[in-house]
Amino acid sequence: MRTGVLAKYREFLPITDKTPLITMNEGDTPLIRSHNLARELGVQGELWLKYEGANPTGSFKDRGMVMAVAKALEDGSRAIMCASTGNTSAAAAAFAARVGITAIVLVPSGGIALGKLAQALIYGAKVLAIEGNFDQALEIVRDLTARYPVTLVNSLNPYRIEGQTTAAYEICDTLGRAPHYCVLPVGNAGNITAYWEGFKRYFAAGRVRNKPRMFGFEAEGAAAIVRGEPIDNPQTVASAIKIGKPASWERAVAARNESEGLIDFVTDEEILDAYRLVARTEGIFCEPASAASIAGLRKALTKGWADPTAVFVCILTGHGLKDPDNAIQQAPNLTNVAANIGAVEDVLGWKA
Ligand code: F0G
Repeated sequence: MRTGVLAKYREFLPITDKTPLITMNEGDTPLIRSHNLARELGVQGELWLKYEGANPTGSFKDRGMVMAVAKALEDGSRAIMCASTGNTSAAAAAFAARVGITAIVLVPSGGIALGKLAQALIYGAKVLAIEGNFDQALEIVRDLTARYPVTLVNSLNPYRIEGQTTAAYEICDTLGRAPHYCVLPVGNAGNITAYWEGFKRYFAAGRVRNKPRMFGFEAEGAAAIVRGEPIDNPQTVASAIKIGKPASWERAVAARNESEGLIDFVTDEEILDAYRLVARTEGIFCEPASAASIAGLRKALTKGWADPTAVFVCILTGHGLKDPDNAIQQAPNLTNVAANIGAVEDVLGWKA
């Protein structure tokens, strides 16, 4: 039963008697064993896909947002604000609607996928399209939330990271262990931070006897951490991770170092290949940024950075339907046909 992550993982979260246990039944997302894709990638051990697109707003952001909004309510806040490449804004808007407070979201103008924009608007957030990129939008939000009585709900808010640790607990609960490798996309670098924190906590509590190596992948044109310097004008087809100055940079590096993991990049071409591949081989539709985890695993195996006989979990962070434009562009063409049996037989090459 889906009870929501606050109730389920209460003992691992900063929940007090005064924290309202709000929920949209987020979390408890499918951990799907992959056979076809595993074979394609050369995984000889186990490959599991954590499908975060199955969350109520279609991305992992619901885990962090439910915690951040619960704490905002506990503190008496009536308004939340964030900058977003789309998914955080969708989650903020949905939870604000759910609990009856105001959400103000700043998104890069023309820079977020259509479905995400539709979500923020339909949930009733105040949506401001900034003529600039995500990093500039976040600067503005940081300044304004420091000066006005509005709660910042980007992952600079520690409760966001807290909520997102729950995905690591779920993986361990399902597998009965931590994987050897946890592979995920890196944008603002909050999620890799949260997963590592979650795995460490579960280990410390004796729930598992091992910790994974964290393998994070940025998009090549937005690979600030890999290059070791901020990128003023990041570029990638994976708009969710088009971020040039990750807010949780240091913590992501710490997660990499502590876990003996790595942070590397994948090209747009590799991302799009992986995006089509996971859909065609497993019937799982994720958004382009999510496919950076698959592309990253493929790169790591090709380069010999990972042991192919190990247990891998790739995090598929968001639902494919969020980005219909990329899907249509990357998919095979559709076939138009007249509304009669003969025409359909012709197209299919069926001749009785
Ligand atoms: N995958 C998806 C689908 C995302 O939306 C994001 C981030 C990431 C991966 C990267 O996670 O930032 O914690 O390293 N999206 C944020 C947003 C920035 O505004 O929705 P991260």
